[in-house]
Amino acid sequence: MSQRTLVLLKPDAVRRGLVGEILSRFETKGLALVALELRHIDAAQADAHYAEHVERDFYPPLRDFVTSGPLLAAVLEGDEAIEVVRALNGATDGRKAAPGTIRGDLSLSNRENLVHGSDGPESAEREIALWFPALDA
Ligand code: PPS
Repeated sequence: MSQRTLVLLKPDAVRRGLVGEILSRFETKGLALVALELRHIDAAQADAHYAEHVERDFYPPLRDFVTSGPLLAAVLEGDEAIEVVRALNGATDGRKAAPGTIRGDLSLSNRENLVHGSDGPESAEREIALWFPALDA
């Protein structure tokens, strides 16, 4: 079933010059780019995106990180796109993510882990509406 998912290439991906490499992994897998925008978000946008995590201990430094520089927000589309993107991203912690995944190959951190992908259909719908309100769901 074709799905859309919200992907962020976080500020570490932009700072480290990995945008091309990461986008290429999604594109060569066969996912289509539906929307793409470089954004430097503020704390309110970070809180809206991570609404379910704002009370967690790890959240304040995560908020500082995602607002620390520009990031790339994208909507990707394809068969089972939500699950496929999460598999390509790898486990949250780059130190534990499997080799071959984006985080497993390119990250040594659970905060600076380069990418975000919606974790299910409801999150995808909410996040796409939040980041790209003009886009049809
Ligand atoms: S959970 O507990 O399963 O809901 O959390 P998880 O999906 O693993 O992570 C949710 C997002 O929080 C980030 N995260 C952290 N950031 C900083 N420090 C710590 N310890 C930490 N643990 C989790 C993680 O990178 C996830 O970000 P996104 O952007 O959703 O991938």
